[in-house]
Amino acid sequence: AEQTTLSIIKPNAVAKNAIGAICNRFEQAGLRIVAARMLHMSLEQASAFYAEHQGKPFFDELVGFMTSGPVLVMVLEGEDAIAKNRELMGATNPAKAEPGTIRADFADSFTENAVHGSDAPETAEREIGFFFPDGICPRTQ
Ligand code: CMP
Repeated sequence: AEQTTLSIIKPNAVAKNAIGAICNRFEQAGLRIVAARMLHMSLEQASAFYAEHQGKPFFDELVGFMTSGPVLVMVLEGEDAIAKNRELMGATNPAKAEPGTIRADFADSFTENAVHGSDAPETAEREIGFFFPDGICPRTQ
């Protein structure tokens, strides 16, 4: 079915000038970029986005990294967009990511793993609303 999912190109991938290369993979796979925002998250914002990971041993490192520089947040749309995006990304731990996946090619570590993608329809809905509270592509006045 047609779905939308939230994608984040993380600070390490932005810093290595890989935005175009990564977006190209989405488009080549048939996913359409229907919304995009570049932003530099505050600690409060990153902590709220990753609220489900609060208390985990990697949480401080995760929010520290996610607030270390600009990210590109996007909504991807297409057939089975959630699973397709996760396939393109590869495993969360880049050491386990299949060759040719985004994380295999652009991740630097488990924390600096280049991209984020929603893992389920409910998560996608929450994450899209988190970054696009006014709708995904509001008409300007
Ligand atoms: P992401 O898909 O953005 O969701 C949460 C992030 O936490 C994940 O990518 C990883 O970068 C990071 N993460 C999850 N589990 C671990 C772990 N065991 N050790 C270090 N980082 C982790």
